[in-house]
Amino acid sequence: MSSNWQQNEIVIVGAGLAGLFVALKLSPAPVTIVTSAPLGKGASSSWAQGGIAAAIEKGDTAFAHAMDTIAAGAGIVNAHIAHILTSQAALRVQDLLSYGTPFDRNLEGDLLLSREAAHSARRVVRVKGDKAGWAIMKALISAVRTKPNIQVIEGYTAKKLATKKNAITGVHCWAGKGQHLFLRSRNVVLAAGGVGALYKITTNPEQANGEALAMAAKAGAILADTEFVQFHPTAINANADPAPLATEALRGDGATLINKNGTRFMAPLHDDGELAPRDIVARAVFHENREGRGAFLDCREVIGADFQELFPSVYKKCHDAGIDPITQPIPVAPAAHFHMGGIHTDAYGRTTLNGLWACGEVASTGAHGANRLASNSLLEAVVFAGRVAEDLGKNSLFSTSSKQNKKMKIEIEETIETVILSTHRKDIKEMRELMDRYVGIERNAKGLRNALERLTQMADKHQDHLTLSNMLTTARIITISAFMRKESRGGHYRTDYDQTDIKWAHRSFISLEQAEQTACNILNSDKGQAQ
Ligand code: SIN
Repeated sequence: MSSNWQQNEIVIVGAGLAGLFVALKLSPAPVTIVTSAPLGKGASSSWAQGGIAAAIEKGDTAFAHAMDTIAAGAGIVNAHIAHILTSQAALRVQDLLSYGTPFDRNLEGDLLLSREAAHSARRVVRVKGDKAGWAIMKALISAVRTKPNIQVIEGYTAKKLATKKNAITGVHCWAGKGQHLFLRSRNVVLAAGGVGALYKITTNPEQANGEALAMAAKAGAILADTEFVQFHPTAINANADPAPLATEALRGDGATLINKNGTRFMAPLHDDGELAPRDIVARAVFHENREGRGAFLDCREVIGADFQELFPSVYKKCHDAGIDPITQPIPVAPAAHFHMGGIHTDAYGRTTLNGLWACGEVASTGAHGANRLASNSLLEAVVFAGRVAEDLGKNSLFSTSSKQNKKMKIEIEETIETVILSTHRKDIKEMRELMDRYVGIERNAKGLRNALERLTQMADKHQDHLTLSNMLTTARIITISAFMRKESRGGHYRTDYDQTDIKWAHRSFISLEQAEQTACNILNSDKGQAQ
């Protein structure tokens, strides 16, 4: 093997909020973080505009926050997990403050709280309006840089887990030109983000390509709720890839959604208007665009001249796209934003494989059900990253002695080619279009079967290329799970089963083996109607 890694070294895959938080919470234990992009780049966490939801206002309670989380999740949230999530929120916000996150405060020095959709109280802590993700990551990266026990390997992407008898033995990683690195470890934490980049229109960075989900599934881990992909209603519609976000906090502050006739189209659709659950707003925006009426976020009256000061990130994104949000409504479209599904984990981030933990967006804890509540994603990342670290600490599988604290020597060998060629890019483009068109905001059996058929052909063609094989595996599992759920619920909307069905009021779980068997059944059935 190509490294002299200690058996009990902890390896964390991914350097977003969840990965960095696990490492910091484990200090002074020796840990290694492996990340495809330089620290702070390529992590969805850095791009998060909204903030972190925590019931810290007088009169608000963790119980009320849990109830909102459960209601948003449309009947399939794991209530135990939701209560853990919300009851540990205040503690984790304190942790982030202690690492130096400059959350916004009022003149009295109290944390400023804002309102987002489907929250019954003002409970989102933010930084300079829309810079929470960036500021939290900046603080955590600085903290990580001061810790001699945390080794960061940048430029390597984990693509394959090594296992023996249902237990993890290491992670295979590759760098851009095909250099291979094997990290031998019995304690691996996957914190590698979501799946947005499998879709043509997404708010996520290209690194959010679902590879970690496929790695876990190929190693035998069970996945959960993979059909539930959340589309953010207000990505800026200016042909950029990824699509820049116009944070929901704008609507929280009173911005309205209008079409090109100036009609507020959310008003007749839901009592909460623009602050209705995200899936409902996303579908309404999708319909206005599809019908040619257009959809725009109008911030002129409520934010107006203060835009640049209050929402500097969105202001810059608008400007880059040639839009002046002070005088013009912002054209918007829904974009794949967050995966409620992922690697099935328990309340301590343990997966179904020994020695494999998962946290952050790649995990499916059951906290979000069919639809995530705004600003619960960074919260989930820190709460469950903290619990993963606690669990690893309890297991005492590793030593914190200073002797072992020194950084490990890495030896790299040249092996297989993982470079993405232009022919691969063409297929990735086609995959993203298929996912948008057939496995996107609206789905039906015929379209899902079409997508599955073509994705399967591509997966067969690319089975020897790890990156493509991983991406296509995840895309296919999402498609198969969406085909199987014959109802509409939260982020999963079926035009051929447009009602919520009590029979389906449960989470879904799937292994790769089950997914392959189901794919065969779907593709062998007549027009995808059987099953
Ligand atoms: C937003 O700022 O609208 C996104 C926040 C989130 O996804 O929770």
